[in-house]
Amino acid sequence: MKITVLTYLDAEDESSRDYDPVVRQVARTLRALGHRVSILGVHGDVKRLIAGLRRRKPELVFNLLEMFGDLVTGDIPVAGLLDLLGVKYTGCGPGEFYLSQDKALSKKLLAYEHLLYPRFAVFSPNSDFETGGNLRMPLFVKPARSDASIGVSRKSLVSDAVQLMKRVAAIHSELNDAALAEEYIEGREFYVGVLGNQQAHALPPIEVDFSGFPEGQPKVLDSRAKWEESSAEYKGTKSVVAVLPDEMRARLQKVAVDAYRALRVRDYGRVDLRLTDTGEIYVLEVNASCYLEKSSEFAMAAAAAGLDYPRLIEKIVNLAVTRNRR
Ligand SMILES: Nc1ncnc2c1ncn2[C@@H]1O[C@H](COP(=O)(O)OP(=O)(O)O)[C@@H](O)[C@H]1O
Ligand SMILES: [Mg+2]
Repeated sequence: MKITVLTYLDAEDESSRDYDPVVRQVARTLRALGHRVSILGVHGDVKRLIAGLRRRKPELVFNLLEMFGDLVTGDIPVAGLLDLLGVKYTGCGPGEFYLSQDKALSKKLLAYEHLLYPRFAVFSPNSDFETGGNLRMPLFVKPARSDASIGVSRKSLVSDAVQLMKRVAAIHSELNDAALAEEYIEGREFYVGVLGNQQAHALPPIEVDFSGFPEGQPKVLDSRAKWEESSAEYKGTKSVVAVLPDEMRARLQKVAVDAYRALRVRDYGRVDLRLTDTGEIYVLEVNASCYLEKSSEFAMAAAAAGLDYPRLIEKIVNLAVTRNRR
């Protein structure tokens, strides 16, 4: 097949080719699988995006684009544009992206399926305060839409109203996003990958092991723990294939598949969960079209299920092709 890997570039200058490592990994893998592969990197120029697609005429876009221009939710309109152009692509469409990216709206869909999520309040700069009821401190305050732990730090955990309102104001002004205040869920953290459409299957859960985390600090994957390789938080966390009794693994996987379905995720995604001491499983968020880098939790989980990287990438292509045929 003729496949174009679509990705976001930090700057308009396409000659920089400063791609995220996942882009070349996916492109190389697709080539090795026998496809004719091109890469299209765009920053925020719609005309260039359209021209690039017209020139390449892909039968399928492998969509790795996560934002567009300055818009962190730019993947939504880009998926819509692909629909308008009649271009087929892997992963979610605009509507599915919208549902899972709005973490407050997501909870309302999870509620219908009787899935547990942290109780919450939304502080939006543009509309009324919204809450499902009384919340118990401490609260965890994060942006309602951003991902990759943007806006998540040590300050995210607040224990009084003054700290809460400070974080809310910072999220409004620094990230131009609504603030989501959630009850803090103490417990083990799991990432569960899911693959499929009509028949969605969960991969083996990956646990975020906080055992090396700095003493006395709340165990959360803040932006340091995720990205700052020199920090104690980064060094103190590692993702491992979870060691669990079969029954508990099955429960985590069922919650993940139910959440994936509830949010209409297509092809592949990852569900972030917390498990409390009393055995309750909370959905923290659903990542539609999650990160596919070779050492990512998703690829690790696939490998644990016997799907090596080439087979995982091929599986995503096949899911998208079959879905588009229907
Ligand atoms: N309600 C919560 N209770 C406990 N920890 C949380 C809560 N919400 C988020 N976290 C911590 O913050 C991290 C990032 O939050 P998440 O909602 O997954 O956002 P992101 O989209 O940035 O990954 C989680 O992996 C978890 O460690
Ligand atoms: Mg997350």
